[in-house]
Amino acid sequence: MSVVLITGCSSGFGLQAALAFARAGDTVYASMRNVDKAERLRAATTPDLDIRIVELDVRKPAMFAPLIASIVSRSRRLDVLVNNAGMIRLGAFEDLEEAEFRDVIETNFFGPFALTRAVLPQMRVQQSGYIIMISSLSGIAGLPSDVAYTASKFAVEGATEALRHEVDRWNIKLALVQAGLYATGIFAPSKAPETGLPRGYPVDSPYRALIEYKWRELQDRMPQAFDPAIVAELLVKIARSDGTRLRWPADEVARRVLATMFAQDDAARDEFLRGVSGTDWWSHGAAPPT
Ligand SMILES: NC(=O)c1ccc[n+]([C@@H]2O[C@H](COP(=O)([O-])OP(=O)(O)OC[C@H]3O[C@@H](n4cnc5c(N)ncnc54)[C@H](OP(=O)(O)O)[C@@H]3O)[C@@H](O)[C@H]2O)c1
Repeated sequence: MSVVLITGCSSGFGLQAALAFARAGDTVYASMRNVDKAERLRAATTPDLDIRIVELDVRKPAMFAPLIASIVSRSRRLDVLVNNAGMIRLGAFEDLEEAEFRDVIETNFFGPFALTRAVLPQMRVQQSGYIIMISSLSGIAGLPSDVAYTASKFAVEGATEALRHEVDRWNIKLALVQAGLYATGIFAPSKAPETGLPRGYPVDSPYRALIEYKWRELQDRMPQAFDPAIVAELLVKIARSDGTRLRWPADEVARRVLATMFAQDDAARDEFLRGVSGTDWWSHGAAPPT
């Protein structure tokens, strides 16, 4: 059974994933930036599940090494990292403050990749590991009102695809999960039903009609949002897969968008990219060609 670290377990996918991995028999380190929010996960946990709630803010890299050291000291290894923690800021690019834009990229891209860098030495020593990134359909397609989030998730997608070929030689696997719309807490901070706009949105924005439309459309779609337990089950399946597949659509919507945006499947894309890069020898643990 595996030792799993998941970020952002106070709600949504992270909470469900902690339960799903533990129910599959794994040891789960369910991390959250504010452990005062652990009540929901605690309430859903049963005594037979091996879930440890630990504190981790993905924007505080000083927390990473001590946490990883304590996991390895207790559990002897770290098999799976699920980079799940994330945030969104809906709004027109021009309306977002620079600090808001950076917040999204820090949380969704720099944080997960700093944590990934911190777990890689342990996975290299073990000669195995699985790092799963919760991406988004916004990681493969750009739509208005979503520029910051899209930028962060495109960065996650590109960096994951590139990193995969750096670390496969140590049997470290990476995967990306794309998901449609799910009933989680991600949109809750923006909720302000008394206006037609997200909370705090500038009412004199030249983009007001667009943002009102997108906000209303989001509220209308919410009742049909998928259950986050679907993604949680998929994560368990990915962690037990052989690593040949990179992108994992979680639902019918994600499958449709992925099939439309990518003409090639993962295997064909991989083969093409390896050919372009000429680094097959590295992936196979060989010496460079002379
Ligand atoms: N819901 C969807 O439709 C959807 C679709 C595609 C992809 N996603 C992605 O799914 C992932 C999980 O989101 P969710 O939908 O489950 O939303 P959620 O319920 O809001 O969960 C997000 C989690 O991330 C945590 N978090 C935020 N900033 C953090 C930080 N600096 N350090 C550590 N944890 C932090 C939150 O903690 P707090 O409780 O403390 O805020 C929360 O636990 C995100 O990466 C999101 O982009 C969501």
